[in-house]
Amino acid sequence: MGGSPSFPISPIAKDRIFIITGANTGIGYEIAKWSAMMGATVILACRSEDRARKAMETMQEEFKTEKAKGTMGLTDSPILAIEFMKLDLASFQSVVEFCEEFKKSGRQLHVLFCNAGLGFGSYKQTGDGLEIMLQVNYLSHFIIIAKLLSIMRRSGSDCRIVLTSSSAHKGGTFDLATMNYTGTAGNFPGLNYYGRSKLYQIMQAFAMSRRLKDSNVTINSMHPGFVDSELFRDADTCIEKCCLRCFRTCGVMKNTLEGATTGIDLATNPKHTGVSGHYWASCKVTTQSSTSRDEQKQEKLWKETFPFIQKYLTEEEITYLEEKSQDHLRLEI
Ligand SMILES: NC(=O)c1ccc[n+]([C@@H]2O[C@H](COP(=O)([O-])OP(=O)(O)OC[C@H]3O[C@@H](n4cnc5c(N)ncnc54)[C@H](OP(=O)(O)O)[C@@H]3O)[C@@H](O)[C@H]2O)c1
Repeated sequence: MGGSPSFPISPIAKDRIFIITGANTGIGYEIAKWSAMMGATVILACRSEDRARKAMETMQEEFKTEKAKGTMGLTDSPILAIEFMKLDLASFQSVVEFCEEFKKSGRQLHVLFCNAGLGFGSYKQTGDGLEIMLQVNYLSHFIIIAKLLSIMRRSGSDCRIVLTSSSAHKGGTFDLATMNYTGTAGNFPGLNYYGRSKLYQIMQAFAMSRRLKDSNVTINSMHPGFVDSELFRDADTCIEKCCLRCFRTCGVMKNTLEGATTGIDLATNPKHTGVSGHYWASCKVTTQSSTSRDEQKQEKLWKETFPFIQKYLTEEEITYLEEKSQDHLRLEI
C-alpha cells in the first residue's frame, strides 16, 4: 500500500457516493482510499467486516501521512468519509441483501466499482451451486448493477460503472454451454475459467453501454496490469509459487497503487465524464480480444446470463436494464 500517485487529484464533492467491491485490500483498497482522499463518500463493500475495518483504519492513517506530506488537492475534511457494508459475492442472498440495504438508505449512487475478484486456487463451488469465479467475478456484479441501476439513473449527471477485468480474458474460451463448470475438480482448467469470467465482464460492459447510450450512466472495463496483490494468495502449486517468486524478483509486477491508477482515473477524473463503452489499460483505451468485441456474442452472453440471475431480479429491474437502447434487439441472436 502507498507510493506516489501518477493520476490527477481532482476534488470530489462529499455527497458523491462511491461503492467499491473488494476494497479492503489490493487494487480496490487504493481506489477506495484515493477516491475518499479526493473527497468522495466511499462504501467499502467487503465480505469480511474485520478486514474491512482494519483497512479503514489504515486508510485514515495513510490520509494523515499524505496530508502531512503536503499532497495537493486532498479533501479538507479531517477524516475520510469511508463506510463498510457487508457483501459476499459468493452468495446471491448476500448480494440481494446488500442491494436492498443500500436501496433502503435512500442514498444516491454515483460510482459503482465492480472490483472484487478471485483468480487462483483449486476448483470451488459456491452454496448456490456455481463455479466460484463465474459467480463472484461476473454474475454477482451483474446483479448489483441491475439492482442499483435505477438509483444511478436518478443520481444526476456523471454516474459511472467500472468493472475490473483483466488481460487474462484473452485466455478465456467463449463457450456458453460450459459457462458453469460441471466437470471433475481435478480437471478444472482454472486459468481458462478465470479468463472467461473476465471476458464476460468486458462483454457485459459493451452490451450494457449500448443500453445506457445517451444516459447519465457510463460503463467501462479495465485491466489493472500485473499487480502484486493478494490475488495470488491461493496459488499453491510449486510452479505457481516459483513463477511468482521470479516475477517479484525481476520487478515485473506493479505495486497495488500502480495497479489502481487506471481505475482511480476512470472513477474520478472529470475528463472521463460521459465516456463509455471502452476497455482501458494504463489509463488509455486499449484493444481487447476480437471475441469480446463481437456484438452478437455479447448479446448471446447477455441472454444466456439471465437464467443464472433472473430469480434474484424483479420484473422492474429487468425492464430497466433493457429499456434505454433497443439497438441490440436488431442483432441476430
Ligand atoms: N493482481 C493482478 O495482477 C490482477 C490482474 C488483472 C486483474 N485483476 C483483477 O483486479 C481485481 C482486484 O484484485 P486484486 O489484485 O486487488 O486482488 P486482491 O488483493 O486479492 O483483492 C481482491 C478483493 O476481492 C475480494 N473478494 C474476493 N472474494 C470475494 C467475495 N466472495 N465477496 C466479496 N469480496 C470478495 C477480496 O476480499 P478478501 O480480502 O476478503 O478476500 C479482496 O478485497 C480482481 O477483480 C482481479 O481479478 C488483478
